[in-house]
Amino acid sequence: MIVYGFFLVSLFIYWLTRNNGSKLQPPLPPGPKPLPFIGCIINMLRNKPTFRWIHRLMDEMKTKIICIRLGNIHVIAVSDPIIACKFLKDKDAIFSSRPDCMSGFLTSGGYLSTVLVPMSDHWKIMRKTLATNILSLDKHKWLQDKRDREADNLLRYIYKRCHIDAAVTRGVVNVRTVVQQYSSNVIRNIMFGSRYFGKGNADGGPGDEEIEHVDSLLTVLGHLYAFCVTDYFPWLRWITDFDGHEKIIRNAIYTARKHQDRLVDERIQEWKDGVRTKEDDLLDVFINLKNPRLTGNQIKAQIFELILATFDNPANEVVLTDHNLQMLSFSTGRRGCAGVLLGSTMTVMLLARLLQGFTWELPPGESYVDLKENIQDLMKANPLLALVKPRLSHHLYPTY
Ligand code: HEM
Repeated sequence: MIVYGFFLVSLFIYWLTRNNGSKLQPPLPPGPKPLPFIGCIINMLRNKPTFRWIHRLMDEMKTKIICIRLGNIHVIAVSDPIIACKFLKDKDAIFSSRPDCMSGFLTSGGYLSTVLVPMSDHWKIMRKTLATNILSLDKHKWLQDKRDREADNLLRYIYKRCHIDAAVTRGVVNVRTVVQQYSSNVIRNIMFGSRYFGKGNADGGPGDEEIEHVDSLLTVLGHLYAFCVTDYFPWLRWITDFDGHEKIIRNAIYTARKHQDRLVDERIQEWKDGVRTKEDDLLDVFINLKNPRLTGNQIKAQIFELILATFDNPANEVVLTDHNLQMLSFSTGRRGCAGVLLGSTMTVMLLARLLQGFTWELPPGESYVDLKENIQDLMKANPLLALVKPRLSHHLYPTY
């Protein structure tokens, strides 16, 4: 997800507060000359998207590590795996926190969760809680039925589109859409016990609520840890939402969370009223945690964050996976991925079902896959379309 856009481009960014005046301070990495007070912020605004500008600067300066001052903050970017490992492994104790920034603060509900939370006692407790109670091997096995249901639904949905509805679709399937649907269905099912927030869609695809939910998750992910001017001039935040990021991310969080938070409130009430007595999904587990007992707000924030983690990563990984399945990049150290088991199971199962169930070819009339990237992010500019044909006996495809 999330934290990890920069891992995918081997770009590691760390915010260093300035240590004024120390003569013993070691030299900073090379970088453009900053103006007094504002640093390089004007160049940043003139050269969007910022991560591409940083890559360009690194190429021009022929450096694999660069220091760019924005406002009062030194941003250090690394594009070399060996140097990145120095940060992620050797110096993990120093660099494993998260920056305090507008998008991280809002997305984590005010640092109530884990992934986006700066190093703190709260992070320690939440990380341990996730590892022992939510993402443990026991819980993973307990949730297998729900994951299987979504893998079957994936087969059913693609089969319908490429075979039953072939007259309309000409057998062409949008891989990005089906992969995103699978990931968001799995997390909704294991978290809330249902694929749908509302009535859903009879063909196993998303209903209006799920489409809105996924669109909002994508918007949040697109603005999380983005270069936002008020992060470098925090006092400005009281006056203006300079680049509009805050409004966009607030709206998207609101839209995504209105679907989920309603379910959390209803479920807490069901347990209080005694109408629910048996745990069936992770929301039940969250509500019944004893040590620590989580508040409603903490549960909501943590669930939102896990949904973002599960939605984004397996989808990206499958679209990028190479032949040796060596793309899974869970990172290491204190802040390494806490959901490796779920993430790798989902990714491998998704790929396995897609390949076992169907043959995949270029759509009619196309001679190559266009791998061009978006300018604004690292997604492929055009979604991957494929001509899909069932390769198993027809009775093996679920059609319920
Ligand atoms: C293929 C799937 C996934 C990949 C590639 C992935 C990758 C990552 C990466 C690179 C990090 C950051 C590590 C760092 O900063 O050093 C991370 C953190 C994290 N991931 Fe994943 N992830 C995946 C799936 C999941 C899933 C399914 C969950 C849970 C539902 C999850 C939960 C977390 C959590 C809680 C953290 C934060 C750990 C902390 O800050 O202490 N991840 N993940």
